[in-house]
Amino acid sequence: MKLTILGGGGFRVPLVYGALLADRGEGRVTRVVLHDVDDRRLRAIGRVLSAQASGVPDAPEVTGTTDLDEALHGADFVFSAIRVGGLEGRAHDERIAFAEGVLGQETVGAGGIAYGLRTVPVAVDIARRTARLAPDAWVINFTNPAGLVTEAMSRHLGDRVIGICDSPVGLGRRIARVLGAAPEEARIDYAGLNHLGWVQGLWVDGRDRLPRLLADPALLESFEEGRLFGAEWLRSLGAVPNEYLHYYYFHREAVRAHGGGPTRGSFLHDQQAGFYTRVTDPDTPALDLWNRTRAEREATYMAENRETAGAGERAAEDLSGGYEKVALALMRAIARDERARLILNVRNRGTLATLDAEAVVEVPCLVDARGAHPESVSPLPDHAAGLVHAVKAVDRAVLAAAGSGSRAQAVKAFALHPLVDSVNVARRLVDAYGAVHPGLAYLG
Ligand code: G6P
Ligand code: MN
Repeated sequence: MKLTILGGGGFRVPLVYGALLADRGEGRVTRVVLHDVDDRRLRAIGRVLSAQASGVPDAPEVTGTTDLDEALHGADFVFSAIRVGGLEGRAHDERIAFAEGVLGQETVGAGGIAYGLRTVPVAVDIARRTARLAPDAWVINFTNPAGLVTEAMSRHLGDRVIGICDSPVGLGRRIARVLGAAPEEARIDYAGLNHLGWVQGLWVDGRDRLPRLLADPALLESFEEGRLFGAEWLRSLGAVPNEYLHYYYFHREAVRAHGGGPTRGSFLHDQQAGFYTRVTDPDTPALDLWNRTRAEREATYMAENRETAGAGERAAEDLSGGYEKVALALMRAIARDERARLILNVRNRGTLATLDAEAVVEVPCLVDARGAHPESVSPLPDHAAGLVHAVKAVDRAVLAAAGSGSRAQAVKAFALHPLVDSVNVARRLVDAYGAVHPGLAYLG
């Protein structure tokens, strides 16, 4: 089986390869093709992968290419994990947003819109080529903003593109853990958009255990989201939000905390620049360096949000990532027709009654050889449905701008976002982003 990884020189690729190495099952991936626009990054990550494979019998063969069509041709699965504009672009997104007093996070608010505007045209091109060169392939989209990018690709690939994120999976696992339930046996009643969802129930043996959690402040504050939002607010909501809702519910604090020092993007940019330079030195143990760099990245994830909330350090068990586990579980369920239940980004098809059928939503799905089938979920309460609708309207304006090159649609995308508070700010953001991002030259 051939797996193609787009963004194959990306820092998290060894996570995926590690999971492939651990998979000894029937019909596993035997060939991995890494595609990247940057040959140097491919070679750097190639060094880490060969260190991982050393001594492992039947390790999947790895090749790299900068030719996209060649990479896609004949693929059974495509993992799309690209970063248009690189981490430098991410740092620009943040800096320009903060200069206007709004959020620059790569998926939330102004930063997410800027990132979406330059990523959607590239993702659409990938989707079109995949439909032509590998029409039977399943595409698993890792690229942020994941919901928006998956929806853009679904217009060309239908239900053959599925978006993934590890945040809801991690949230479900944490809630199950504090309730003493096995995560595999719990059914999580979770719904929303990517980085904008809520857990409204956790069912084990036909009983919803969430009320017990909400009634117990000590239990609530014993895990990441409980500490971020505080027991009192979670009890008021009657639900546990995805960690990214922190940017909405504590918007003012988030702007203040993120606006000062180096941004996440610039921190990662410097960290990764060091990694990619040093890893090519033949005297550097590539896998050790990668592991240390990754540990630092994980430990500092959402540090500013945790600091404003007084949430402390991340729990050790939350530091192990999870993307690769979701992706592998999804790929395995499809390839081997092994039914699995996973929270995924798929077309709505009536799951959330207030959204149209084509809207990509993040909900629990049953997966088998025919793909991911959304399960029924509780309807969202009004305030959550309102946010979901507002953000979906923003996504649609981004898609319209990317499809037409219309500057007015791009301004509309920024101006409609609940965390951007002025049409004038939106206009200035479009100008400022247009000035630094070559990927936005299409906006006339
Ligand atoms: C979480 C989010 C992802 C994000 C990742 C890394 O897993 O769900 O969407 O890509 O964290 O974030 P970082 O700030 O380290 O790039
Ligand atoms: Mn995510």
